[in-house]
Amino acid sequence: MKTYCVTGGAGFIGSHLCEQLLAQGHRVVNIDNFNDVYDYKTKIRNILNSTRSDFPFTYSGDKDGDLAMLQAVVESDGYRLVVADIRSMDELEAVFASERIDAVIHLAAMAGVRPSIEDPLLYEDVNVKGTLHILEVMRKHGVRKWLCASSSSVYGNNRKVPFSEEDVVDYSISPYAATKKACEVLGHTYHHLHHIDTIMLRFFTVYGERQRPDLAIHKFAGMLDKDEELTMYGDGSSRRDYTYIGDIIAGILGALSYVERMENLYEVVNLGTNRTITLRDLITSLEQEFGKRALIRTLPNQPGDVEQTYADVSKANQLFGYNPQTDFAEGIHKFVTWYRGNRHG
Ligand SMILES: NC(=O)c1ccc[n+]([C@@H]2O[C@H](COP(=O)([O-])OP(=O)(O)OC[C@H]3O[C@@H](n4cnc5c(N)ncnc54)[C@H](O)[C@@H]3O)[C@@H](O)[C@H]2O)c1
Repeated sequence: MKTYCVTGGAGFIGSHLCEQLLAQGHRVVNIDNFNDVYDYKTKIRNILNSTRSDFPFTYSGDKDGDLAMLQAVVESDGYRLVVADIRSMDELEAVFASERIDAVIHLAAMAGVRPSIEDPLLYEDVNVKGTLHILEVMRKHGVRKWLCASSSSVYGNNRKVPFSEEDVVDYSISPYAATKKACEVLGHTYHHLHHIDTIMLRFFTVYGERQRPDLAIHKFAGMLDKDEELTMYGDGSSRRDYTYIGDIIAGILGALSYVERMENLYEVVNLGTNRTITLRDLITSLEQEFGKRALIRTLPNQPGDVEQTYADVSKANQLFGYNPQTDFAEGIHKFVTWYRGNRHG
């Protein structure tokens, strides 16, 4: 049994990862500050589901009280929930001083392109300073294995497809992308100076059960469900490499076992599918799932949005056998099935 520190484990990807690590018999220390980007109650449900708790949680409406209750409910030999902010070195220090952590999977971040244009300083604070804190506390406590969430957005408007880890990523077009690139650079610095074995994982738009409510698939599903008009930015021809959550988790676990068995490792690795779907086709898939035609309002492309993402995943396949299994129709069906059962979130 290993002890893994997952940051951002109350979120979409993090809660799935914690669930799988627990299922494999590991101890998980989840550090999350339950920020208000979306409803903290959704994150409480993520935690209850990921720890497979059947406790009949009743919300008091007081966030601090609810989180204290949650911590008590889910605490076990195998799981510890720490409500803390990665911007606080003192809070991180207290966690690392009290645990023997084998590896850190750092997912906590301000995610999303458009809000980063509104509040770039917050993105810099959480994503850059917070990541530096994680690296510092790892260095101080001798934790030498690290996975960190980067993003396909670092490719900006890369013309060459599919996007390869060899491509130059110096031309970010959003503050979010710039902070993720900064994390990759910090990761290399700590690898070089302090021998932290590292894989930076460039996730390509992740979807599926528990997906963040601000992401297009989830937003569109909500609008279709409520017969509201869908806002489509651009003419619908923009393309994304959408990656089903189960494949992303398989990729993270593959990367984890690879980083654990290798020495002197720094790698940047794409986790996508090597397939793209247009925005228009995404809407059509959702229309089919809901059995409805969407009312669509078209608006101009948004600043910071890239025209396409398209992953070359051969490196992940070569290094740790990554092989995404879920085709888009199947993944969307799973998402919509989940959505229908979880409309409160
Ligand atoms: N979902 C995607 O499509 C996608 C694509 C590329 C990269 N990523 C990256 O993957 C990671 C996870 O994304 P997600 O979609 O699960 O997002 P999410 O918002 O659901 O999860 C992030 C979690 O981090 C926590 N957090 C944020 N700031 C924190 C802080 N200062 N201290 C402690 N915890 C904090 C949040 O409360 C949240 O629970 C992020 O780093 C994101 O940038 C996601």
